[in-house]
Amino acid sequence: MTIADPAGFILANTRLQTVPHAPEISLWLADEITPIWKLTEEELGELGLPPPFWAFAWSGGQGLARWVLDNPQTFAGKTVVDFATGSGLVGVAAMKAGAASVLCADIDPFCEAAVRLNAQANGVALSFTDANLLDAAPPEVDILCAGDVCYEKPMTDRVMAWLRQARAQGSQVFIGDPHRTYFRTDGLTHLAEYQVPTTRELEDFAIKRSSVFSLD
Ligand SMILES: C[S@@+](CC[C@H](N)C(=O)[O-])C[C@H]1O[C@@H](n2cnc3c(N)ncnc32)[C@H](O)[C@@H]1O
Repeated sequence: MTIADPAGFILANTRLQTVPHAPEISLWLADEITPIWKLTEEELGELGLPPPFWAFAWSGGQGLARWVLDNPQTFAGKTVVDFATGSGLVGVAAMKAGAASVLCADIDPFCEAAVRLNAQANGVALSFTDANLLDAAPPEVDILCAGDVCYEKPMTDRVMAWLRQARAQGSQVFIGDPHRTYFRTDGLTHLAEYQVPTTRELEDFAIKRSSVFSLD
């Protein structure tokens, strides 16, 4: 899939907005999902694409970003991967919390431009990869973050096994999740719970309970 001007598409179809549960951060976000989803399919000339996740700050990511911003001692000087970064929300939070470097990873073809624009908007440096990191052993970094990655069963099983592999290699692993159906808390330590403003466009409630966990 190729896109002529992904940054132009993002700037034309989103606006810079404060993240409700992490107002220190502003992101290029959409107000409604259906129009931008249709435009994405037109832009890429394909139907049945996944939603434009990068255009929203998901409740799992918002909770995790809040926790990251409030715990800079955990992130100061650390190398971080924000897996399934979407907009780059958690990556921005990690840099604001003093991380040495953050690599944002996502397979969506718009994410590289979204992460670049959102890094600029927040005055931080973020690296990006569109490689599917799940296809190999996890990168050897100090910390792996994953915000809202348990929304489908196959993805949940695969990501959680991969994150456990990262933990076994010695990385700290932090997960933000709004208690989605496939998310299991065994082997996790609960760190925080938040009531996160989201939108009925995306979720069943306007406020979602979102928790942050570390892998044991
Ligand atoms: C619900 S969104 C969460 C985005 C962001 N972390 C947040 O909380 O706002 C899930 C993201 O997972 C990404 N994703 C799905 N499979 C992936 C994979 N194998 N590697 C990297 N990202 C993936 C999607 O493209 C999407 O951006």
